[in-house]
Amino acid sequence: MEKEIIIGNAIIYAKDFFNKDSSGHDYYHTIRVYETATKIAKKENADLFIVQLASLLHDVDDTKLVDSNSNNAYEFMKSQKLDEETISKVLYIIENQSFKKSIKSSIKLNSKEAMIVQDADRLDAIGALGIARAFAYGGSNKKQIYNPEIKIIKYETEKQYTNNNGTSINHFYEKLLKLKDLMNTDTAKKMAKHRHDFMEEFLAEFLAEWNGEK
Ligand code: ADP
Ligand code: NI
Repeated sequence: MEKEIIIGNAIIYAKDFFNKDSSGHDYYHTIRVYETATKIAKKENADLFIVQLASLLHDVDDTKLVDSNSNNAYEFMKSQKLDEETISKVLYIIENQSFKKSIKSSIKLNSKEAMIVQDADRLDAIGALGIARAFAYGGSNKKQIYNPEIKIIKYETEKQYTNNNGTSINHFYEKLLKLKDLMNTDTAKKMAKHRHDFMEEFLAEFLAEWNGEK
């Protein structure tokens, strides 16, 4: 099958898969990651097809959405008659891109394509979009917006990240403000700066209003 047709099929597959999710893992998150990753891949001269396919499939086996034995990405790629080499490159990207995995082991990603998808996913977690997603996730998981009595924690394990009972505002200090310095590519580093500054501004305003200073 032609690459453009497979990408088209992956877009349809993702749309169908994410149909009604409201936890911040929706179809438009996937499409934004796909578009951002495409932009970065062009600037960084990476393999566009691998980056695009991995972006479109990056959340279809997320354990927050499906059970841990799911093989959705693999099965989709098999249905498209892709060769084993392509399939394994894409699966490597999907399996190694998440923030929680990088908490304990500082995995060094083995391909430019993997770095780009990870950057694009992380860019979508910061800035105005990141703010909206953090509160959407928080609401959907019954977290408080903010509670000054709940202290910020430093993640040491994947488990702490998954089971954290912190507030959505804490999530900025526990994860989102760190992402800028975790970008892999120069293109993403530049894009992250503006989004990061915007989050800092939002947090300063939020806390000033909370404390009755504004
Ligand atoms: P990853 O897969 O990289 O570990 P997640 O899937 O956990 O990342 O995060 C998906 C989205 O939900 C991101 O926008 C993230 O900031 C948000 N999110 C994750 N955990 C929390 C939390 N405890 N509070 C608020 N938002 C969260
Ligand atoms: Ni994602």
